[in-house]
Amino acid sequence: MNRLHHGNITCIEDLRKLAKKRVPKMFYDYVDSGAWTETTYRANSDDLANIRFKQRIGRNVETRTQRSSLLGEEVTMPVGLAPTGLAGMQYPDGEILAARAAERFGIPFTLSTMSVCSIEDVAEHTSRPFWFQLYLMKDRSFMEQLISRARQAKCSALMLTLDLPVQGQRHKDIKNGLSAPPKPTIQNIASIAIRPRWCLNMLRTKRHSFRNIVGHVAGVSDTTSMARWVDEQFDQRMSWDDIKWIRQIWDGKLVLKGIMDPDDAQMAVEYGADALVVSNHGGRQLDGAISSIAALPRVVRAVGKQAEILFDSGIQSGQDVLKALALGAKGTLIGRPFLYGLGAMGEAGVARCLEIIHKEMDLTMALCGLNDIQNIDRDILESQGRSMFAS
Ligand SMILES: Cc1cc2nc3c(=O)[nH]c(=O)nc-3n(C[C@H](O)[C@H](O)[C@H](O)COP(=O)(O)O)c2cc1C
Repeated sequence: MNRLHHGNITCIEDLRKLAKKRVPKMFYDYVDSGAWTETTYRANSDDLANIRFKQRIGRNVETRTQRSSLLGEEVTMPVGLAPTGLAGMQYPDGEILAARAAERFGIPFTLSTMSVCSIEDVAEHTSRPFWFQLYLMKDRSFMEQLISRARQAKCSALMLTLDLPVQGQRHKDIKNGLSAPPKPTIQNIASIAIRPRWCLNMLRTKRHSFRNIVGHVAGVSDTTSMARWVDEQFDQRMSWDDIKWIRQIWDGKLVLKGIMDPDDAQMAVEYGADALVVSNHGGRQLDGAISSIAALPRVVRAVGKQAEILFDSGIQSGQDVLKALALGAKGTLIGRPFLYGLGAMGEAGVARCLEIIHKEMDLTMALCGLNDIQNIDRDILESQGRSMFAS
């Protein structure tokens, strides 16, 4: 085997490098970018990297467990796959493959509204219930339809994303003319033609556009009108009344995503959220916002006893997961790490990503003297790390 052999992939960075080689440029760029100057994108991972662990000894760490629960579901580690648009362009049938890898590993998968594979596609190829992420659009009958499709597919949670009333500007997407399927410009053809593996696999599937939407909404049959439709449809008037409405029509677990402010967190709880996700959308929305890990302790202090707090944005390793848990998150989501795995090697790449994170968590727990993830608290961090993120 060449140097890209499975065993040679030892960290998420290896998956990123491989994905960069294998995924057409416009789709790789779509993942590896943040809004505008990318200051917040970088701050998410930099601030996590600046937190220090406390090395402990003599605590008998022979048995260690990461078993836990998220939204009442048993998980092998408190990590779920974040909703990400266009995963089916990182790798053909990407959402189905990622959902299968998550199911095999024993963790939740979240399907984005803006996925390539549809709710029904994923339901057909999995048996563990998945979570469905919703964006609020003006067409309320389409919203009701999507929610009832999620119910029909036995999705076990609805995750409403609140931080995208307008889309943050990512320069590369504009320059690359991002669309699904890609437009046949000379640049796109050139960047795709040098990735024959991706092309061949893409020819083998019929799933090439936004299948939650195309064919389900009158007048949306191609991506040109789709792009226009999203632009017109994302509802900038979104307010707490809409959240109340969604709470009324969805009686399952409701997760509100994109909470960075303790007052918003309080509102989220008042409006019936079972859980919330402290997230700045991976630095893709408000550039110049503080890192998500800096926001976490304040939100935990405000509502940690009333709702389950999940965390995302910036996680690149199992160590980062532990830092978020130590600062009060019950669980974490990962976006780019699994997308790199997917782009690199499909289902096997997502599985590899999860193994890497699990192992990094396991070894770090041992070296911090922690046996059971459910007992994690700030005590595994040095006080320097604690004061940086004082609540
Ligand atoms: C390529 C990409 C597409 C995304 N699409 C969505 C989406 O459709 N819906 C959503 O709620 N969040 C979306 N997100 C945000 C993720 O759910 C998550 O908040 C973010 O990726 C976490 O940061 P991380 O990538 O550093 O783990 C997307 C993120 C990426 C990287």
